[in-house]
Amino acid sequence: MVGMQPRCREASTRKNLNISTEFLFVKSAISVVRLSFMVALFLLSSVSAAVAPSPIRFLMSTKVFVLDAGKVSYVFGINELGMLQHMYWGGHVGRDEDFGTVPNARAWASFDLSTTTMPQEYPGWGAGLYVEPGIKATFPDGNRDLVLHYVDHQIVGNTLSVTLKDIERPLLVHLHYTVYPDTGILRREVTAENRTDKPVVLESLQSAAWYLPIGDGYRLRYLTGRWAGEWQLTEEPVHTGLKVLESRRGSTSSQANPWFAVDRDENSDSEHGAVWFGALGWSGSWRISVEQTPHQQVRVTGGFNTFDFGYRLAPGESLTTPPFYAGYTDGGIGEASRILHTFERTEILPNRSGLRTRPVLYNSWEATEFNVDETGQKALADKAASLGVERFVMDDGWFGQRKNDHAGLGDWYVNPQKFPNGLGPLIRHVKDLGMDFGLWVEPEMVNPDSDLYRKHPEWAMHFEGRPRTEARNQLVLNLARDDVREYIFHSLDELITANDIAFLKWDYNRNFSEPGWPEIPPDQQKNLWVRYGENLYNILDRLRQKHPVLEIESCSGGGGRVDLGILRRAEQVWSSDNTEAFDRLTIQQGFTYAYTPHIMMDWVTDVPNFNGRSVPLQFRFLVAMQGSLGIGANLNRWQTEDFALAKHMISVYKSIRETVQNGALYRLALPTAGNFIASEYVSEDQSQVVLFAFSHSQQFGRSVPPVLLRGLDERAIYTLARLDAKPQPKNSTSPGKLSGAYLMHHGVMLSLQGDYDSTALKLERISQ
Ligand code: GLA
Repeated sequence: MVGMQPRCREASTRKNLNISTEFLFVKSAISVVRLSFMVALFLLSSVSAAVAPSPIRFLMSTKVFVLDAGKVSYVFGINELGMLQHMYWGGHVGRDEDFGTVPNARAWASFDLSTTTMPQEYPGWGAGLYVEPGIKATFPDGNRDLVLHYVDHQIVGNTLSVTLKDIERPLLVHLHYTVYPDTGILRREVTAENRTDKPVVLESLQSAAWYLPIGDGYRLRYLTGRWAGEWQLTEEPVHTGLKVLESRRGSTSSQANPWFAVDRDENSDSEHGAVWFGALGWSGSWRISVEQTPHQQVRVTGGFNTFDFGYRLAPGESLTTPPFYAGYTDGGIGEASRILHTFERTEILPNRSGLRTRPVLYNSWEATEFNVDETGQKALADKAASLGVERFVMDDGWFGQRKNDHAGLGDWYVNPQKFPNGLGPLIRHVKDLGMDFGLWVEPEMVNPDSDLYRKHPEWAMHFEGRPRTEARNQLVLNLARDDVREYIFHSLDELITANDIAFLKWDYNRNFSEPGWPEIPPDQQKNLWVRYGENLYNILDRLRQKHPVLEIESCSGGGGRVDLGILRRAEQVWSSDNTEAFDRLTIQQGFTYAYTPHIMMDWVTDVPNFNGRSVPLQFRFLVAMQGSLGIGANLNRWQTEDFALAKHMISVYKSIRETVQNGALYRLALPTAGNFIASEYVSEDQSQVVLFAFSHSQQFGRSVPPVLLRGLDERAIYTLARLDAKPQPKNSTSPGKLSGAYLMHHGVMLSLQGDYDSTALKLERISQ
C-alpha cells in the first residue's frame, strides 16, 4: 500500500540474533579479557578524570556515544532496533544530555522503509536499504542480505571501537573512531571480519558514512584534473541524487583526488561559514559519494572503490578499510584547509617531518632528461651548490639500459656506460659540495624491453591470452603478488644500502589496465585491487624502517598519487609535471585546499615552458617559493644575472620557509578569479608574515587595490620588507612599519604593473 504509515516498524520484525555456540564461546572469552581491560582502564581514567574529561563517552542511560574532538562534536547512538544511528556532527556542544535519546526510526510510506530513512551510522546492504551501503557482501549460499546490529564497544583514550554483527551470521563489522582534539579531525575506518566457516565476497567495504545536518542548499567542492593540469577546484550545488568522485585506475589519480568539502552558507566566503570536509587515506582505487535523499538527508560515503570490487574474505580473515579523515569548521574553506594542513603536518607525515622544514632541492629532469652521466651531473651539482641548494636529485635515466622511455624499467642496476664507477663518485662529489643525494625510481613498472620482463613476463598485470596495454611503453607489475613485492623491496634495499641515498623520488607513470592475476584461483583474483596497495605500503614501510633517514617524494607523472595514505610514507609530493609558473598558480591554489604547502614541491624551470609562455625569473621564483622550493632548470644555460637572482631568492626563501611550509595559509586573491593573485602565510606565533602577489594582463591605468591581510595580531606593529629584487618605486610612500589593525583593515598597497609582474613582502612583528 502506498501512503503515509508513519509508525511502520518493518525492520523490528526481522529475525532475532542467531549466534553460533562457537561464536558465543569466542565472544565470552574476549569479553573476560575486555572486562579486565576495562576495569584497568576505568581505574586509570578515574585517576586522570580530574585532569581532563574523556573525549569519548558512552551515555549508558540513553545509549548515546559522544565524541568530542576539540571544537567539534560527533554523536550517534543505538536505536530501539539495536542499530547504530547517526545524531550530530558539527560545532562543539559539550552538554551531553542535550542530545537526549536516539530518535525512533520512521518509514516513509511503503517505499522508503526505516532502514533507508534512518541515518544508519554504518549501513549493511539488506532489509530494504536503498541508499549507499557501507558494506555489501555475498555469502556462498547466495545470501546477500546483511543487517548490522550493535554487539559491544570499547573506548581507549581517544579511540572507540564499536562491533556490529549481522542479525543471523557471524560476519562482524568493527567501526573504529579516533578523535584528534587539536584539529577537530575524526578518523574512521572499518574492519570486516569473517567468522563464518565459508568465504564471503565483499562487494563493497566503505570506511565511513558522514552525515550532514538534514537540509538542502549545500555546495560541494572537489578537485579534478588531468596530467599537467591537476588540482582544479570544482564547485557545484548538492542536489537530490548521488554524485560520485572516484578513481577506478588502481591509484589515487590526477583526474580526481579523494578530498571533499561541503558547505551551506550561500554567502560563505573563504573565511566564514560552516564547512564539513574530509579526505581518504588510500592510494588505490577509491570512491567518495555525496548523496542527498529526497528526505534531505545528505551524506558522504567513502572507501574502496566498488567498481570491479569483489574481495574474497576467507574464513577467519579480516579486511580493514583505508582511514577516512573528516573535520568541521565554521571558519570557511580557508580554515578547513588550514586545519587539514596542520593535521597532515602533525599527525600524518612520517617521522615528524611536518614539524621540520624541507631542504631546497635541485632536480636534473628538465635539464638532462634521460641523458644523465657522471660528468654532466657533477657539473650541474657544482652550479646547484653555488646557489645554496641543499639536496641534489638525479632523475630518470641512470639505470638498466635506459636511454629513453622504451627500456630499462624493472632493472634497478646502475648503467655501466653512464656511470662506469657506479654512483659512488657522483654521490661523494655531491656530498663534498654540502648537499645530500637523491635518486629517481619507478619501481612498480616494467618495460617489455628489460631483463626483468624477459625473465618474468607473468609478473606484469595481465589477463591470460589478452593483449597487454602499454602506456609510455611500460606495463604495471602485479604488486599484489608477494614475489613481486619482495623483488622490488630487495632491489631498492640493495641500492640504498650500497649508496648514500638520502631521498627517493618514487614515480608511477601510468594507471592499471587488464588488472588480472591469472596465477591464482578466479574467485580470489579481484583481491588484487586491495593487495596491490597493501604491498606498496609494505615496501615503503619496510624501506623506511631499515633506512630511517631515507626521505621519499610521491610522484605519479606529477600529482597523481597524493593522498593521506601515501603521505604517511612520503615527506613530500610532486604536485604537477607542469612547471610553467603561471599555470602553476592555479595548480598550487587547488592543491592547498586539501594538502599542506609543506609537502608541495615546486621547481623553478626554464622558459619558454609548457604553454610556450615566458615569465620572468623572479615571477618563477616567487611562485615556487610558496611551497617547498626546488630548482629544475638547466643551469648550464643560465647567465650570470640569473645565478645572482637565484642565489638571492634562495637565501630569502631560507629566511621565510618555516612560515611558508609550516604556517597558516590565507588565499587572498585567487588565480581563477582575476588578473591579480595573492596569498599570505602567517607563522604559527604570528611573528612573521609573508605576502606573495602576482599580476598579469593589467589594463593601463588600473592599479591593484589595497590588499587586506589576515590572521595578524591587531595590536602588534610589523616591519615591512620587500623580498623581490625589484627597485623600490620612486613615488613609494609606504612606511616601513604598520600596525596589524591597519594591515588587516586598510590593507597594504602593492606596486604591480603590466604582464607577469610579481612582488613579495616579509612582515616581522616588532611589538605587541
Ligand atoms: C615523470 C615525472 C617527471 C620525471 C619523469 C621521468 O613524468 O613526473 O618529473 O621524473 O617522469 O621520466
